[in-house]
Amino acid sequence: MAGTKATVRYDLHSLRAAAQALAEGRTVAFPTETVYGLGANALDSNAVQAIFEAKGRPQDNPLIVHVSDRGMLDQVARSLPSSALVLMEAFWPGPLTVLVEKHDRLPDAVTAGLNTVAVRMPQDPIAIELIRLAGVPLVAPSANLSGRPSGTTWQAVLEDLNGRVDGIVCGPPTRVGLESTVVDTWNDPPRVLRHGAIPWEVLQRELPELVDYTGTEGSDLKHAVRSPGTRHRHYQPRARVRVIANSENPSESAMEQPCRRGWIGVSEPPRTVEYEATLLCPSVEAYASQLFETFRRWDAMGIEVIDCQAVPEVGLGRALMDRLKRASE
Ligand code: TXA
Ligand code: MG
Repeated sequence: MAGTKATVRYDLHSLRAAAQALAEGRTVAFPTETVYGLGANALDSNAVQAIFEAKGRPQDNPLIVHVSDRGMLDQVARSLPSSALVLMEAFWPGPLTVLVEKHDRLPDAVTAGLNTVAVRMPQDPIAIELIRLAGVPLVAPSANLSGRPSGTTWQAVLEDLNGRVDGIVCGPPTRVGLESTVVDTWNDPPRVLRHGAIPWEVLQRELPELVDYTGTEGSDLKHAVRSPGTRHRHYQPRARVRVIANSENPSESAMEQPCRRGWIGVSEPPRTVEYEATLLCPSVEAYASQLFETFRRWDAMGIEVIDCQAVPEVGLGRALMDRLKRASE
């Protein structure tokens, strides 16, 4: 039952033991370059089921399969379109997930019954070594309770999943801090389903025909079916999140009631509002890498409203704005 497991903490000298646990069907969280993932053997349907239970994840939200080499990819993918090959060549190992045709042997729970599977070869040396040692492809959704901000430190992962998973590899904080970009290469032309660590502009250089399919209109039924995860609530701290455009003066709505506020952005907060906590980031990259951890830290402090400065939707800013908007919904 969830909440009653003894969660083993593995240090970086114990990767072999962590990999052994994964190979035996247990759930173990581990760092990647984007966010921490909650891993399980992708070919073991009981282990896959345990992931949904640990996270409280809706069954209709499919998982990403992580591989360490081409041989593992062939165990989960039946065919690779040329656009997938182009992206893998350019961005693997790295924070890019591609949707390709699923192999029959992959349990249906992994893909929520879809005929495509999302796959990624991470770059983080701990992640790659762990998958290699486990010897099996690993499903790994972000290691957080469903709906909460993704975990970017091992402490954040434990906060959500202690007692709910079998183990955690206690590595360093993740570098990027936002999830991988998801591209559907099964459809032609290929479509970006989730903005992420590899910016749109960089992908487009490799695949000029790429279509941005991330539009949030729920009216697009085909989209809803193709990328189930984008329908669910996501990335939300307990505090209320507001996205503040540079032209906007947050004072009016902020004056409604006195409360404890935080500001996160790349510039100084507006002087019209009193902030108890501020995080001033030297770059959009730093903002992205600190965002989820700051949400959690300020929740623990009792901050009630988090004002997040809007950034231009270029480069990593596009993915950052996507997460901010979802957190504020
Ligand atoms: O950076 C990342 O991608 C992290 C690390 C751990 O690798 N993982 C991650 O997984 O963010 P998760 O489960 O939090 O997000 C996976 C996203 C969801 O939006 C899901 O709906 C989508 O990928 N997805 C997975 N398989 C899919 C499929 N077959 N078709 C459409 N969307 C899919
Ligand atoms: Mg997630």
